Amino acid sequence: MPRLGLGVWKTSNTDAAQSVSQAIQHGYRLIDTAKQYGNEPGVGAGIQDGLLQTGLNRKDLFVTTKVLNDDQGYDSTLRAFEASLKQLRLHYVDLYLIHWPVDGRFIDTWRALEELYRNGQIRAIGISNFDRDRLSELLDKTSITPVINQMEFNPLNQEKDIRQLMQLAGIQLEAWSPLGGGEALNNLVITKLAAKYQRSAAQIILRWDYQQGIVVIPKSTHVKRIIENSQLGDFELSDEDVAAIQALDQGKRGLWYDDFTWHNPTNPQAIAGGIET
Ligand code: A2P
Repeated sequence: MPRLGLGVWKTSNTDAAQSVSQAIQHGYRLIDTAKQYGNEPGVGAGIQDGLLQTGLNRKDLFVTTKVLNDDQGYDSTLRAFEASLKQLRLHYVDLYLIHWPVDGRFIDTWRALEELYRNGQIRAIGISNFDRDRLSELLDKTSITPVINQMEFNPLNQEKDIRQLMQLAGIQLEAWSPLGGGEALNNLVITKLAAKYQRSAAQIILRWDYQQGIVVIPKSTHVKRIIENSQLGDFELSDEDVAAIQALDQGKRGLWYDDFTWHNPTNPQAIAGGIET
């Protein structure tokens, strides 16, 4: 899969259509959305336009979407997948993820993903926002290992605990909010490195991910930033500087993680969401 993609969380349909098309035109090949974002139609329109403008084919792109919490369960996931395909105006997706591990349902949801994968309707299946316990349960109870765990990951939140298990199981880390929703961009170590390498703070962080083999999906609706975030190939951080950023880990997830039990399907806040990525 491509190592860099465009994220579209908190992006309207209109903005998604524009930024997806622009991203494709500027070399992005991975687009990451979710039913929860409410912008699958905009993403679908952006994909059509991007392909038209570039002359690329569908197979040149890698499109990811995710199962909404409310849709989890075996039959409802199968139905939700068909609905997402229609919204995106696609015949298949490259990667389908369980958006959040809804307790009591994520095993059945995964079995539906396995079925869709075996039928060839999805090229690869994975998970998102799983912690160590839930990932262990999934590995124990099901037969196909997820290819990806998409997690909140940035210099201030490096999820070292679960990454060990992911490494053992051969699961790729994909980072959502790799710029820390903006906060990591202002960190002093990052801004000093930006000055040292004559690059932007965002490029320093994304290059740091790249050198560690982490897939990133930074979100931006600004073309200038979309381009900037993809220009990572012409410089390299020293081992020392990679380590300096690794030392910034504070286990600092978005505050909302602590505020409510996001994995509990009976929690109305967890379902109503509006804060999920
Ligand atoms: P915007 O969409 O207005 O460009 P993350 O993906 O880590 O959550 O970060 C996304 C946030 O960071 C968004 O608010 C986005 O704003 C902003 N952002 C994305 N790319 C850059 C960049 N290169 N420089 C500064 N801010 C950026």
